[in-house]
Amino acid sequence: MTGRAVVKGIGHYLPERIVPNAEFEATLETSDEWIRTRSGIERRHFAAEGETTSDLAANAARAALADAGLEADDIDAIIVATSTPDLTFPSAATMVQSKIGMTRGFAFDVQAVCAGFVYALCNANALILAGQAKRVLIIGAETFSRIMDWSDRSTCVLFGDGAGALVLEYQEQSDDDDRGILAVDLNSDGRFKDLLYVDGGVSTHTTGHLRMQGNQVFRHAVEKLTQAAETALEKAGLENKDVDWIVPHQANIRIIQGTAKKMGLPMENVVVTVQDHGNTSAASIPLAMSVGKARGQIKQGDLIVTEAIGGGLAWGAVVLRW
Ligand code: UT7
Repeated sequence: MTGRAVVKGIGHYLPERIVPNAEFEATLETSDEWIRTRSGIERRHFAAEGETTSDLAANAARAALADAGLEADDIDAIIVATSTPDLTFPSAATMVQSKIGMTRGFAFDVQAVCAGFVYALCNANALILAGQAKRVLIIGAETFSRIMDWSDRSTCVLFGDGAGALVLEYQEQSDDDDRGILAVDLNSDGRFKDLLYVDGGVSTHTTGHLRMQGNQVFRHAVEKLTQAAETALEKAGLENKDVDWIVPHQANIRIIQGTAKKMGLPMENVVVTVQDHGNTSAASIPLAMSVGKARGQIKQGDLIVTEAIGGGLAWGAVVLRW
């Protein structure tokens, strides 16, 4: 095949309720100032009671389909990246499938925590290049507010809820158009599983809460993200200076700045939404892409490198021409 998986549409959805940092000051020994300076986060959205991950995902999916000018039944496959599905099974993806009225094709979830959207993009790209799907709807959606320990100030102030969705479509390549996914780089190393995990799950009869050794994860982040981004760029035959936009996982502004600096790129080339969304895990990258496009930052033809790291540890990067 001589084609690529090309972006056809993007959209996002954020729950209505916005929680500013100051709201935590009433119950925790923390401050707006600490949260802002250590993480760059100013506010985050929390899902309403009864509002689930598949609800957020379906809303983002509808927005992406509208942006692509497509109907639900034009899609061959849905991949939802999430660590906070509505139920143990069926997958959040099949719930989205029914919510958007798609009665054909197939749907499944991918779980790679904060790197989930990068993993899902790679899977969608592989399905498209293998000829198993022409159009794939990839969604990152999370309700991390459901797995917070509200007495743990070192984690509960950092995360938020939301969803972003992207439509990828197979397109034959032409000499004057090299849009699409150009290269990917995925990694994981389970030796680091204790740095970021949920202390519960189906097989242990509990739900659990997120636990993180934040400063340890931080230590790995800049190095591994830079390495993944530069490896993917090298695979694409490109250099750091060719990048128009880094769309990083939005966990911490200091990690985002550190990675850009290590790559030799100014912050003017980075899409930043962490101040408004907090860390939305697998949703953070499609949310940032969608907001970046709406702001007029990301335009057709731009070279994008997107990178993420999270529990596992799992990390990776994708290089694409928008
Ligand atoms: O998305 C998945 C990947 N996750 C990440 O990328 C997160 C990576 N880590 C981080 O973003 C940062 O490590 C944090 C924002 C989590 C923490 O920043 P830090 O600069 O690494 O701080 P620290 O964990 O070393 O803690 C510094 C101090 C500690 O007090 P002592 O021991 O120095 O007295 C903490 O107890 O800050 C204290 N602290 C807080 N103080 C006020 C921790 N949380 C809070 C808080 N408010 N909410």
